[in-house]
Amino acid sequence: MGRRTFASIGRALPQRQTIVLTRSGWTHPQVLTAPDLNALPLAPDDPRTVFICGGADVYRQALPRCSDLYLTLVKRTVEGDAFFPPFEDQFDLVGELRDTPEFTILHYRNRLLAAAGTRGAPDPPAASALNPRPSDG
Ligand SMILES: NC(=O)c1ccc[n+]([C@@H]2O[C@H](COP(=O)([O-])OP(=O)(O)OC[C@H]3O[C@@H](n4cnc5c(N)ncnc54)[C@H](OP(=O)(O)O)[C@@H]3O)[C@@H](O)[C@H]2O)c1
Repeated sequence: MGRRTFASIGRALPQRQTIVLTRSGWTHPQVLTAPDLNALPLAPDDPRTVFICGGADVYRQALPRCSDLYLTLVKRTVEGDAFFPPFEDQFDLVGELRDTPEFTILHYRNRLLAAAGTRGAPDPPAASALNPRPSDG
């Protein structure tokens, strides 16, 4: 996540390693930092899936590299000054993972990476594993 998104949450999210992108030398005891998307502190053979979780600045830079997009649409109007970037020209809808009175979770795949033969996410997360609380990511 970007440094401003971390500031908006104020703590590391549970049960995952958080990596915060920052060019300013900012640090926090609960997270790793990276100065660039190309310099994430991960070994080349690390088997874990990397999830990009915002904000707008980081989504805009990272989306072309993402094989899959899990988009939660909340069914209410919220005020804000940061917006998810356009993605429809890169991604195709492949399924609806969950639909509740409060939100819908949609799964998209990057058609450009798929055409290039890039491996996508192994399996969509089970609906029960998707955390619907925005404060928990
Ligand atoms: N609704 C949602 O699902 C959702 C999800 C995430 C965030 N948000 C909201 O989005 C807002 C934040 O979004 P934002 O666009 O303003 O900021 P952001 O993307 O969270 O963070 C931007 C900061 O990240 C660092 N950064 C960005 N690209 C980098 C790169 N390539 N290499 C190294 N560092 C990089 C820079 O930090 P430095 O200035 O330290 O160099 C930059 O100022 C917050 O209000 C948050 O609540 C909403």
